[in-house]
Order: sequence, then structure tokens, then C-alpha cells
Amino acid sequence: MPDTKNAPKAYPPSADMVANAHVTLSQYGSLYSESVSDSEGFWRREGGRVDWIKPFTKVKDVNFDLGHVSINWYADGTLNVAANCVDRHLATRGDQTAIIWEPDDPKDAAKHITYKQLHASVCKMANVLESLGVRRGDRVVIYLPMIPEAAYAMLACARIGAIHSIVFAGFSPDALSARINGCDAKLVITADHAPRGGRATALKSNTDAALLHCKDTVKCLVVKRTGGQTTWIDGRDYDCGEMMLEASDISHPAEMNAEDPLFILYTSGSTGQPKGVVHTSGGYLTYAAMTHEIVFDYHDGDVFWCTADVGWVTGHSYIVYGPLANGATTIMFEGVPTYPDASRFWQVCEKHKVNQFYTAPTAIRALMGQGKSFVEGCDLSDLKVLGTVGEPINPEAWNWYNDVVGKGKCPIVDTWWQTETGGHLMTPLPGAHEMKPGSAMKPFFGIKPMVLEPASGEVLEGNDVEGVLVIADSWPGQMRTIWGDHERFEKTYFSDYKGYYFTGDGCKRDADGDYWITGRVDDVINVSGHRMGTAEVESALVAHAKVAEAAVVGYPHAIKGQGIYCYVTLMNGEEPSDELYQELRKWVRTEIGPIASPDLIQWAPGLPKTRSGKIMRRILRKIAEDDFATLGDTSTLADPTVVTDLITNRMNKQ
Ligand code: WT7
Repeated sequence: MPDTKNAPKAYPPSADMVANAHVTLSQYGSLYSESVSDSEGFWRREGGRVDWIKPFTKVKDVNFDLGHVSINWYADGTLNVAANCVDRHLATRGDQTAIIWEPDDPKDAAKHITYKQLHASVCKMANVLESLGVRRGDRVVIYLPMIPEAAYAMLACARIGAIHSIVFAGFSPDALSARINGCDAKLVITADHAPRGGRATALKSNTDAALLHCKDTVKCLVVKRTGGQTTWIDGRDYDCGEMMLEASDISHPAEMNAEDPLFILYTSGSTGQPKGVVHTSGGYLTYAAMTHEIVFDYHDGDVFWCTADVGWVTGHSYIVYGPLANGATTIMFEGVPTYPDASRFWQVCEKHKVNQFYTAPTAIRALMGQGKSFVEGCDLSDLKVLGTVGEPINPEAWNWYNDVVGKGKCPIVDTWWQTETGGHLMTPLPGAHEMKPGSAMKPFFGIKPMVLEPASGEVLEGNDVEGVLVIADSWPGQMRTIWGDHERFEKTYFSDYKGYYFTGDGCKRDADGDYWITGRVDDVINVSGHRMGTAEVESALVAHAKVAEAAVVGYPHAIKGQGIYCYVTLMNGEEPSDELYQELRKWVRTEIGPIASPDLIQWAPGLPKTRSGKIMRRILRKIAEDDFATLGDTSTLADPTVVTDLITNRMNKQ
């Protein structure tokens, strides 16, 4: 293990890095000042990253006032996002690899897809979509494994002006149907099976189950990934491979407005059903492209690998849109970090000579636990920059990443952002800033972070302060609305602290003025870098016939960051048992998906409630953390003995 106790507090970038970086410390200083003092001028220039069909004249038109929230960037410009990610590179880099596809099984060959080939496939897919009746503005749900067709489908939608909504392949049929219905999709694109870690998920049969709960006009386009058996309904199901073979590879990119929606991505909130986060075209693409280039210090010819799934925003911005807008070579990996063994990530880095590598703390912790021999057998000499995203990274994992993977030579960009933000909002820049293990360090250009006193909303000026994190001004990649519910958008993000975008995160600005994210301050938990609403898991649990009530909180988990801890009160007459424990875990997996699997269930004869009936989660969190000493005030509880019972059970670990 690296010596973390004596590790220096801050790590400066190497001289080599500074010499070649897009942005140095002094450049960061002057550009950042310009970006906040002359936001219009700064973003007018950056808008030039995109090829516009009709150039914009207006840069920014933003209102954060509750009741009038509206966010517009480059609003009178027109463009096509797919043409920016593909067509515009054909003349200069048509034969360069755009996507390297690395399959789940390393014995299968990787695919190198050039920009020319990508163009042909996207055009064909666009024609397939049109032949199935998909038109500009229509919604298309994508429920696919990490295969090139996922990128073709995204770009094909963008090409014809349809709006995609990707549902992660780890979600259940119920979650899928809720999302198909939520955005009233015309078509769902899926595959027969999704191989991952040597096992296969039956995506098509999940889709069949989901479609039972959708309008019968919804069509289904099926990619044959494994050739495994599926059921088939003629007139509803279409074979993607066959249709692509016959489709023309000529397709004219639609002229879209900068503010036309590009995609919807559902994410969990602290209450209710998942929200459909809406991102639009011109601003999102500008921001994804810029952050991809600057934050990872991406240079022409580099090979970039983001290990996320396209089902999450990280995959949208940093596997597909950002890298392809920059004419990069981007890796799409179908597998998992530990299959066939814990050297897979490093094998892939060696094989494809990866220059920038971007992953999540949970993966680093899992691999760290397997020992460094899995890394040391691989040649990682092409790595220049490492990145992390999804949750705060603990110093042990940071040091291991830095020492064992980066050999002390690669800056680590700890990128803090959200589904809502479209791209990175805070991170050190590799050639500019020192890095402190666990700190997101500095705001990106144009981002004005502020730390507020949580209760009063008072602005905490100066350094060495801690509170909630808000952002004082808009940036081009910001979400525009919640699909079909602008009021919920305003309420969620603009009502608690007037005039600011509220992130839902806690934050500390240290004595040097550097930022540290301290975690969610709402009822959202972060499981393996994935956001999970405790309310969603609770409603899944109470949907079970034997469950009367449930309360769900996060608790510290060595690999996942946070685990899902469920307090369950059974119906009168029902008895706790190991069988029921397993049944409830399975139930939640079926209701939401494997990512929501409870880690611990505690049988709770009663839950701590105030006299008005509100569950006191603060107390439940403390008990789950085994922190019984600082439960705080329990005098407002309707029945304080409930707490003593829960603690006794917890101590006996049931
Ligand atoms: C939440 C957003 C953005 C892609 C991945 C997750 C947490 C994210 C960091 C980081 C500390 C982080 C925050 C945030 N988070 N990155 N580098 N350091 N916390 O996207 O599902 O929208 O979740 O993830 O709590 O609010 P998401």
C-alpha cells in the first residue's frame, strides 16, 4: 500500500505537463476572470467550437428567478449535432478511427470504426429510423449494451432531429416502461442480449415485458448482438441489422435550432419518480467539446477512454458527444473492470495505447482491493491524464490511482458535475492546478460556485467555509427543463435559494480557496457513482404485499461509497425471515433494476417519526452508520423507544 500518511498535501503538475498543456496556471487565471466578467464575450468565442448552419447572434438569455426560469444559449443559431460529430471531420480525418469498440470477451476482436464508416452507419441508421416513422421532435428510447449501435442510434436521432432517451441496460422492465411512457416515445431500440462480465442480460425479453405497459403503437428495433433466442412480434419488432444492410448511406442532416432538445436522460431525485433532464443542442455540444478538450488536455491523435456506460450522462458527454465533436478517437467498452480478471482495464489501456483514462472511484476501490500485481503486468506508458467522477474519492483510492496506475506522472482530474450540468463544473486542470486528493479544486470557465449557509441561504464569503453549493450564473451545458414538468424544474433547482441553481450537494471551500464536495444534502444517495433516490427504493419496497412501511438511507460502503440500507416494517402478522429478506432484495431488483439492490435490510417494528408523522431520517442514517452517540435531539419523536429498539437490533446485527 502507498504511504498515505506522509503523502504531500498537494501535488503540482509536472513540468512536462505544464509545457504541453492547453491551459497553464496563468492562462487559467486570466481566462477564468474573463469568463465571469465578460461571460457574453467569452462564450461568443467558445461558440466557435461548433459549426453553425446559421451563425448565432445572441449568446445568452438567462433568467434564474423563480416563476420565470428560462435558459437559452446561442438561441438564434442553427446546427446539426451529428454533422458536428461526424461529417465535419470527413475531409480532414475520414480514415482516422473515431470509435474503438472493445467487446466484453477479450478473445473477440476489437472494432476500429473510422469517421467515414461512422458516417455511413449513422446515415443508414437515420434512414432506418425515418422508415419506421420517426420524425423531428419525436422521442426514441435507447436500451442497448455498450455496442457501436448505441452511438449510431444517438447520432442518428441527432441527425434527423429526434430526441433520444437512453435507459441504462441495468434497469428493469418496469423502469423501462416508465421512461418510454414518460416521454411518450415512438420507438425503442434494444438488442437481443447484453453480454457483460461473461453473463448476458436478456434485453429484448425485458423490452417485451416493458412494452406490455406501453401504447401498442410503440415499435421496437432490435440489434442482434449475440444472435440468442428472442420472441418476435411481426409488425412491432424490426431487425436493425437487416434494415441497415438495405438502407441508403445518404442522409441529409436536419437543420436544428440551438435550443431544440438533443436528449432526455432520466435521473433520480429526492422525491417522486425520476425526472427527465432535458439537454439541448448548441450549448450542450459547445460545453461537452470544450470540457473534453481542456479538462483532459486532449490533443489531436490521442486515444481517450471513458469507462462509463452511455446510459449515464458521463457516457453521453465523454464517450460520444464531447470526443466526437473534437474529432477524437474514443473507446467504447462493453465489459466490466474485473472480467476475465482485475487486469482488464489495464490490458485495454495497453492494447489501445490509451492516453486519457476516466473512471469512477468505486472501480478504483474495487481494483485496489485486488492488489497491484494486476496493474504492474501491463504497459501503461501511454497514459498522460487520469480522471475520476461520480462521488468524492477517498485519499487511499486517490493515492493508489496516482502511484500504481499513474506512476506519479499523470495528473488526476477529479471532476465534479451532475446529469443536470451536461459537463464538468469543477475540477483541477491537468497543466494548471495542484491536486489535493479528494478535492474538486477549481471552477471551470464561466462557473460561479458559491457556498451558502444552508438554513438562512446567506452567502459565505472568504475561505475556510462549509455549506451548500449553488451556482450563481448559467453555462451553456446546463439542463433547460424537466421533460413535461417545468414547474418541478423550477421547484427542484431554483426555489430553495433564490436566484441560484441549487446543486443538492454540500461543499467546503478550504483555507486556500479550493473546493471539496462533501456529498448530497438531500435524500439522494450515491451508490457506486450512480444516483439513487431513497424515495424510489421505498416505494418499490412498500409495493410488496408483506411490507407496511419502509425507510431507506445511505451508509458507508467500502467499495460502493454508499450502500442502500432499508428499514422495513412488515404488515401485521408477517414474520421476518431469511427467505423474506432475500425475496425483498429480489423484489427491488425486479422493480427498479440490479443497481438498486438493497445492501442491508433491517426489520423495524416501528420507525422514528415526529408527532406529525414525518420519518426522522437523520436518526436512521446515524443508526445505519453505527454512530449511536450523536443521534441528536429525539425529544420530538412520537415514540422515542422505537429508537432504542432499532439500536439494539443494529448492535446485534439481527
Ligand atoms: C452527483 C451527480 C456527473 C456524472 C456522474 C454522476 C456526485 C459527481 C463527483 C466528484 C464528488 C461527485 C455529486 C453530484 N459527484 N462527481 N468528482 N466528487 N461528488 O452524475 O448521477 O447526476 O450524480 O454525483 O453528489 O451531485 P449524477
